[in-house]
Amino acid sequence: MSISRLASAITDSPTLALNETARRLRAKGEPVIHLGAGEPKNKAPITALLGSAAKLREGDIKYTPIDGTPALKKAIIQYTEENYGRSVAPENVVVSTGAKQSLYNILFSIINPQDEVVILAPYWVSYPEMIKMVYGIPVVVTPEDGSFFPKMAEIEDAVSSYTKAIILNNPNNPSGIVYSNEFVADLVDFCERNGIYLIMDDIYHKLVFDGNRPAPGYEFTKKDVENTRVIVVNGISKLYGMTGYRIGWTVTNRKLAETVTKVQGQITSNPSTISQAAAESALTGRQNVVENLRLTIQNNRDVLLQELRSFTDVKVTPPGGTFYCLPDFRAYNMGSVELAQFLLQKALVVAVPGASFGMEGHLRISFAGSVKDAIEGVERMKWALDPNAPNEIYIGDRKLIRDWM
Ligand SMILES: Cc1ncc(COP(=O)(O)O)c(C=O)c1O
Repeated sequence: MSISRLASAITDSPTLALNETARRLRAKGEPVIHLGAGEPKNKAPITALLGSAAKLREGDIKYTPIDGTPALKKAIIQYTEENYGRSVAPENVVVSTGAKQSLYNILFSIINPQDEVVILAPYWVSYPEMIKMVYGIPVVVTPEDGSFFPKMAEIEDAVSSYTKAIILNNPNNPSGIVYSNEFVADLVDFCERNGIYLIMDDIYHKLVFDGNRPAPGYEFTKKDVENTRVIVVNGISKLYGMTGYRIGWTVTNRKLAETVTKVQGQITSNPSTISQAAAESALTGRQNVVENLRLTIQNNRDVLLQELRSFTDVKVTPPGGTFYCLPDFRAYNMGSVELAQFLLQKALVVAVPGASFGMEGHLRISFAGSVKDAIEGVERMKWALDPNAPNEIYIGDRKLIRDWM
């Protein structure tokens, strides 16, 4: 079978591969704890369910405009006004099949072969692959001081005459960090001055803790939506726990929005009509759903951090948002892929290798699941790795004895 060079160069999503291994182990009856999840556990908001049900009842489920129904766009425009303080027109908004498709469409629309896109490590796994899929070159900035916070000077050093865009995911998957307002302001200013697109992936922007508020890029530019280099990507997957509905959107200038629409029109056309109805209902319905989810996740984060703090030699940067953290396991001298496999085999715990996010020696741990799983998962990890942890543990009704250290 002949596979294209481009497709061969794209790596698998590490989470999907781990999900598959965990699924196989579970099917054999093994009590696997999955700390790799990329979605909250809550049910979709009732308003969204009713919105999609009403559409289904109508039975008139046909193509919509490629860039989204007028009703959903209206809801997104209102969301943008309320949360970003910006008035935008329907022509500035393109609805897609998830923020993932929004990001890919944008890259497809702005990147010429060999153009560079700067991404900040730790980065979301799909960024480098998507950039390669449009024949662009991902340029990774890894903070030299070992933190997750790059300095502006490091970003400026990575920028060349080929740089078309910088992607900022704030708060950040996989580390959960929230970049400072000062940093975002500097980045916006730098991009505006240098004519570089700043793609702001805001998919977790309301899942923040301790009073954090990631500042929207728009706050730091006087340019209107037609002239700014700031592009906003957002969606309903994470904030409303509606990952399966697959709705995301782009807010940008009309010319780029038109191009994104043209690209989408030749690939998938409009996102699912039923999902658009659900998204509109979620955005216009009661917003306490988002706040309830945020509170649950903040509580999970607190419990997980407490567990991790007693893990000898593991260092954690406390997450200020999302439902992930990226503890540093370098003291155990194992590559992150090897470490994740070891933990899955010995302790039946799934965590995602930091190597996939450009941070070797780290593991991404999700606290989107239950508190019980977070506590037991970390206890099992400690048992497998930490010589100070008790060397016997019960997994299910099996008593296991640590005999490798
Ligand atoms: C940083 C980031 N951006 C975008 C997405 C894609 O979200 P969607 O489900 O809307 O495609 C994800 C999903 O995991 C994500 O973590």
